Amino acid sequence: MKLTGKIAVVTGGARGIGGEIAKAFALEGATVIAADMGEASFQMENVIHYPLNVTDTEGCKKFYDEIIEKYGQIDILVNNAGITRDSMTRKMTDEQWDLVLDVNLKGLFNLVRYIGPQMENIGGGSIINISSVVGVFGNIGQANYAASKAGAIGLTMTWAKEFARKGVPVRVNAIAPGYVMTDILKTVPEDLLQQFAQMTMLKRLGQPEEIAKVAVFLASDDSSYITGQTINVNGGMRL
Ligand SMILES: NC(=O)c1ccc[n+]([C@@H]2O[C@H](COP(=O)([O-])OP(=O)(O)OC[C@H]3O[C@@H](n4cnc5c(N)ncnc54)[C@H](O)[C@@H]3O)[C@@H](O)[C@H]2O)c1
Repeated sequence: MKLTGKIAVVTGGARGIGGEIAKAFALEGATVIAADMGEASFQMENVIHYPLNVTDTEGCKKFYDEIIEKYGQIDILVNNAGITRDSMTRKMTDEQWDLVLDVNLKGLFNLVRYIGPQMENIGGGSIINISSVVGVFGNIGQANYAASKAGAIGLTMTWAKEFARKGVPVRVNAIAPGYVMTDILKTVPEDLLQQFAQMTMLKRLGQPEEIAKVAVFLASDDSSYITGQTINVNGGMRL
């Protein structure tokens, strides 16, 4: 058990990649708060589903205060909640741009502004930001999403420096998944998914469990000398 006694918050933890991360953390002995604005797709011992919209600034502060009051501290934070609103740039609306940046970028800031300093105060912690292969290489029709996911990598490097500056081991890393079979891909046509699979060295799409395994590694002491990094988990893909 790599996470015994740890308190972990996973945003977007009701399903998909976040759901698999929540389950994997619980199996490693953590108490997991799966914070999501959507309905829970599973129930499991030691995973507590909690309603949260990461764009709600006041709601995030209230969430943070309640978790600290109830569980005492937060050792691990996975900023996983994310959405797409795809469109070619010339057709993209302000609404599509703002919503994606609000959830995928400001949503991270809304929690880290409290949880990062708290980790400094308790003597350490691990923050994992879920970026994307699209944030690393860019992608046609996803200017808003690419900007948000590249932004998540910038935040990762910034927070890794900021929260460790007093010599406290608060580690901050990102995972950049390739195409992983979850609901977020529902709007992507099947033939395009097949093309994406062929663009990987392994000739297949990923499974959420394969992202969760890397999250367990980054959350645990197994990765004690890794910070400020982005781990590409994409089957060897370049977009
Ligand atoms: N699936 C992929 O191919 C893929 C690839 C690269 C990166 N990602 C990233 O992985 C993360 C998880 O994606 P997924 O594939 O599991 O998607 P998903 O749609 O299956 O799950 C996303 C979860 O986030 C929640 N969520 C959305 N907006 C929220 C908000 N404002 N506040 C709280 N919760 C919110 C949803 O309710 C949902 O439970 C996202 O950040 C996504 O961008 C996914």
